[in-house]
Amino acid sequence: MMATILLFLLLSAIFTAEAQQGESIVSLGSSLTPTTRFSWLSRSGLYAFGFYQQSNGYAIGVFLVGIPEKTVIWTANRDNPPTLADVTLNFTGDGRLILQSAQGKESTIVNPPGRATSASMLNSGNFVLYNSNKDIIWQSFNYPTNTILQGQCLLAGVRLVSSVSESDQSTGIFQLSMQKDGNLVQYPYIPELKVEHAYWASGTDGQGNNVSLCLDDDGHLYLLNSTGKYLSNLTQGGYPTNDIVRLMRIDADGIFRLYSHNLEKNGNWLVNWSSSDDKCNPKGLCGLNGFCTTVDREAECKCLPGFVRVHQDNWSSGCERSFTAESCQIKNGNMKYIMLEESNTVWEDSAFSIMQQILTKEDCEAACLEDCNCEAALYKDGGECRKQRLPLRFGRRVLTDSSVALIKVGKSTPIINNIVPMVRERKPQKGILIISISLAAFGLIMLVISGIAIYRNRVWNYKRLSNNSGNVGLSMDVSPRSFTYSDLEKMTDGFKEELGKGSFGTVYKGIISNAQQIVAVKRLEKPLTEGEREFQTEIKVIGRTHHKNLVRLLGCCHDGENRLLVYEYMSNGSLADILFKPEKQLCWNERIEIARNIAKGILYLHEECESQIIHCDIKPQNILMDEYRCPKISDFGLAKLLKPDQTNTKTAIRGTKGYFAPEWLRNQRVTTKADVYSFGIVLLELVCHRKSVDWDLPEEEAILEEWAYCCFEAHELSKLVTGEEVDQRQLDRMVMVGLWCILDEPSLRPSMKKVLLMLEGTVDIPIPPSPTSFLSTI
Ligand SMILES: *[C@@H]1O[C@H](CO)[C@@H](O)[C@H](O)[C@H]1NC(C)=O
Ligand SMILES: *[C@@H]1O[C@H](CO)[C@@H](O)[C@H](O)[C@H]1NC(C)=O
Ligand SMILES: *[C@@H]1O[C@H](CO)[C@@H](O)[C@H](O)[C@H]1NC(C)=O
Ligand SMILES: *[C@@H]1O[C@H](CO)[C@@H](O)[C@H](O)[C@H]1NC(C)=O
Ligand SMILES: *[C@@H]1O[C@H](CO)[C@@H](O)[C@H](O)[C@H]1NC(C)=O
Ligand SMILES: *[C@@H]1O[C@H](CO)[C@@H](O)[C@H](O)[C@H]1NC(C)=O
Repeated sequence: MMATILLFLLLSAIFTAEAQQGESIVSLGSSLTPTTRFSWLSRSGLYAFGFYQQSNGYAIGVFLVGIPEKTVIWTANRDNPPTLADVTLNFTGDGRLILQSAQGKESTIVNPPGRATSASMLNSGNFVLYNSNKDIIWQSFNYPTNTILQGQCLLAGVRLVSSVSESDQSTGIFQLSMQKDGNLVQYPYIPELKVEHAYWASGTDGQGNNVSLCLDDDGHLYLLNSTGKYLSNLTQGGYPTNDIVRLMRIDADGIFRLYSHNLEKNGNWLVNWSSSDDKCNPKGLCGLNGFCTTVDREAECKCLPGFVRVHQDNWSSGCERSFTAESCQIKNGNMKYIMLEESNTVWEDSAFSIMQQILTKEDCEAACLEDCNCEAALYKDGGECRKQRLPLRFGRRVLTDSSVALIKVGKSTPIINNIVPMVRERKPQKGILIISISLAAFGLIMLVISGIAIYRNRVWNYKRLSNNSGNVGLSMDVSPRSFTYSDLEKMTDGFKEELGKGSFGTVYKGIISNAQQIVAVKRLEKPLTEGEREFQTEIKVIGRTHHKNLVRLLGCCHDGENRLLVYEYMSNGSLADILFKPEKQLCWNERIEIARNIAKGILYLHEECESQIIHCDIKPQNILMDEYRCPKISDFGLAKLLKPDQTNTKTAIRGTKGYFAPEWLRNQRVTTKADVYSFGIVLLELVCHRKSVDWDLPEEEAILEEWAYCCFEAHELSKLVTGEEVDQRQLDRMVMVGLWCILDEPSLRPSMKKVLLMLEGTVDIPIPPSPTSFLSTI
């Protein structure tokens, strides 16, 4: 590339000298080749018509000489493949421009309507063909591709079509059309265009049938009717004109912009105006079944749940199902499909059936599941359910819109796909692709295995293992196994080594001798609410959860009065051990990663596992760290098993609420939002690297939630992370998410899904209100 530019500069110097002496008239019989004389220059030396490099060959068009970026102004036959180096461009004796290959194959570049006798690359950037009277019979300005230059107009009935990318000038996916009704409109470049596909319009329709969009030397961009009346000014102009090149282009991202470049200063291109600041505005950026979200003002494409990118590095290729669609018939009452949702997304409306009496989202899901024609449904808050077929188009996330897209996916679709695309990478790397594929494959395998296991254990026959603990091999099993009390006594060497005391009981270290696996055995000490059957049901639910951020339950024991649970062993203790001990420093990035992983674990419990699990006791002591310091949530599902010990809970939360949401105090119904609250406190602890309550600190800092809000209000967040270099934007984001989570009113707290999106930076975070709770309850 650099070499080409240098070559251009060198040659342009030579040709400029030549051109300034003579006429820049190209006469019949002249020819160009990519390697020797490759262009005809304008007299100014600024513009050239001829060969320019495209991918590994050459294209023919008008380009700026010596300016490294936005060089190409116009391209002939933009969708033809690049030519090889051995071609010749001839201005034939009969006045046509034709391209001849070494084998003698011809293709037409320009075939003017009349007999051309000369051609010229004008100083305006217009390449023209003259007849013998010196009238212009053909000009490149009349056939713009994606750009108009200063002094050029886009005439009624003509459109600009974006290119594929900066470096590939072939036809892209957006257009800017100067319509004959007087309106200037941006659409996706698709067949069967409809009015509602427009994503930008000047609103000048009905103002005459011959309106043009023109750009003047001073940067004035405006719409003009044929009697010279200004209909609309997109820019006011009045900028200096000396040594400035200006162009207006519909960029590959679908937004059209006015650029200027100062020739003298040889600086960069400046954007003087653009049709939108919202990069998700152009419709169709993300292809079919994909939707656009903005991350730090840049567009990013995601797939519908249950879908994967068709081509990793090509957004517009869209997304395809990650499962094979089976016949939709319901067999033996077993549905093959489930509905997954993508909230706050809007799509093109192409409903085949609109149901307006539908009241809840669940009704809408059910309606779609029952209808074999329905592949997706768009649910709007007022109770409207629009059944659609795939593909869905023009999707984008609009946080202020409560519409939810409900997608019918195969039951066996690895849900893990939902999470993988959230990896924040604009240009997905091979590594991530491989990881996602292996995760997806792993998820699929796990699902299949657990499916088989669940089927096999249908009746959950509580078969006792033989007393010979040598037979106890757990590591390969996916469902929790049952143990006798004496099995566990042996494994723990008589409950010798205590690992810790949790809210539900004491934990001991154990070892399964033949499998050489270390385990943690938890002896439940509190009275159980229900009988054996409920215990087993709950254990089954817990045992079926599989997520990398949840501690695996390997087995259980229900032997007389004894209730014990066997978990995988976590070598790094709990998050509390690591976070609050100064000698085990966790750096900022590590802490943020831990927060995300905890959120993923909770999200799984709330929304993605077979039956919803509210943890009820999220705190650093219940978050265990594996050997790679990846957090895993433990003790989930137990809250339901054990009698709520009212007095105990209340004393624990008197004075400061700690990790408990205020609704616990008020005896209100506890929902998933209680976990969101607890997560918020843990998040703030992770961010600030301290305990939520620490009376060793000055009084105003002692209670973290108050202190955090205080600093937030005063715009002094750096006080929260004293002595640490952290990314300011990330810090802002983390603290704001934390403050949203700890709002007093449960319904105002975000869902765990939204929390995760906010943590990932996928969605914008509104300014959190004051979490008034600490003012009223203390
Ligand atoms: C095109 O140009 C080449 C090189 O100047 C010449 O050999 C060839 O005859 C020309 N062809 C026509 C049709 O003018
Ligand atoms: C141009 O616009 C003016 C003002 O709206 C109008 O009077 C005039 O008729 C228009 N010209 C044409 C050709 O429509
Ligand atoms: C439309 O207007 C342009 C000037 O703005 C003029 O050159 C052209 O001839 C007009 N076309 C028609 C069909 O009136
Ligand atoms: C547009 O700009 C022109 C030239 O600056 C001015 O005369 C005209 O009044 C402006 N029209 C509108 C609608 O702003
Ligand atoms: C617009 O272009 C001029 C050059 O003519 C430049 O000096 C100016 O900063 C630009 N304005 C904006 C808002 O970029
Ligand atoms: C991206 O995908 C679209 C749709 O499949 C296709 O038309 C386009 O050529 C692709 N672009 C690239 C650069 O491969």
